[in-house]
Formats: sequence, C-alpha cells, structure tokens
Amino acid sequence: MAEQVMEEKVTVLISEEEVDRRVREIAKKISEDYAGKSVRLVCVLKGSVFFTCELAKRITVPVTMDFISCSSYGNGTESMGRVKITKDLDEPVKDKHVIVIEDIVDSGRTLNSLLALLSTRKPASLRLCTLLDKPDRREVDVKVDYTGFQIENKFVVGYGMDFDQKYRNLPFVGVLEKE
Ligand code: IMP
Ligand code: MG
Repeated sequence: MAEQVMEEKVTVLISEEEVDRRVREIAKKISEDYAGKSVRLVCVLKGSVFFTCELAKRITVPVTMDFISCSSYGNGTESMGRVKITKDLDEPVKDKHVIVIEDIVDSGRTLNSLLALLSTRKPASLRLCTLLDKPDRREVDVKVDYTGFQIENKFVVGYGMDFDQKYRNLPFVGVLEKE
C-alpha cells in the first residue's frame, strides 16, 4: 500500500539579509552593554547553533562559548516546569557574565527552568538572548533581555530550527506549511 506523504512547504518569513542585519545590531548592543567585560555565550543545542555562531563572530568584547542541551518532559510532568539536561555545560559558569542564546521562546518553560538552574551556579550575571519570540504562546514568565524578532504564532524552521530534524540548514527563517 502506498505510504501517504504529507507535503511540506517552507515560505520565507525573515530573509537571510534581515536576520543578518538584526544579528549585527544585537551583537553591537551586547558589545556596548558588556564593555570592559568578557561574556560566556551558552548555546542551547541544537536550534541556537547558527545564531550563537553568527552573534559570536560580531561581538567585540572577549567571548567564550559553551553548549547545553535539554529536553522537555512529556505533557504529564511539563506543568512542573522542569526540563531535563541531556548534555550539560563543560565549564563552570560561576562568576562569569553568562548570556543564554536561544532560537525561540515559545511557552517559556524551557528557558524558565534553564535560567533557574543556571542561576544556582552563581554566575556574575545572567541574561537571555533569543532570535525569535512568540509572546502569544507564553505560559510562564521569562525575562528576555535581547530579542531578534517577535513573531506570530506560526511554526518556523530554518536558521538552526527544525521540524523533525529537517530544515535547520536553511539560511533564512521560514514558515512551515503542511498541505
Ligand atoms: P518553550 O519551552 O515552549 O519556550 O519551547 C521552546 C523550544 O521549543 C525552542 O527552543 C524550540 O526548540 C522549540 N520550538 C518552539 N516553537 C518552535 C517553532 O516554531 N519551530 C521550531 N521549534 C520551535
Ligand atoms: Mg531550542
């Protein structure tokens, strides 16, 4: 029997040029805000990889990078607002000026618990930078310090973000449409 294949189409939401321009603006702002200091960028795998790298290249204060990976618990336990760390940071963040780099803040649950965890490790400061924000979807409060773009409640892919691990390599942010 023939397998039914769902057609997927990606349309450009934020072009490569627009993303690039905004990344430069955020990098400039971070460089100003952290003048005279160095920053530890904490990249939340995997969706934030491209954003973290592009940002890091344009920040003019000293930068170190580390990587963390987490997965949300299933629906049953999600209300507890906890995430499971599947790959922890390699280096301590104590006394570091930490900026968590995220691809997208949606319900806010991931970031809410990740920031709570990192703050127990006593960084000198802790901020959050996200490429995209879907404020309409927020379920728990998260203070975002640097935002690339606020977007509507649409499922996006590209520039690191995936659907079923696909489309991460698209150089722009696109909307995934299924037909
Ligand atoms: P939250 O805990 O609901 O804020 O989930 C945030 C995470 O869900 C993001 O870091 C993404 O990995 C994923 N996510 C949320 N919305 C989208 C989307 O539109 N496209 C791809 N991934 C998404
Ligand atoms: Mg993510």
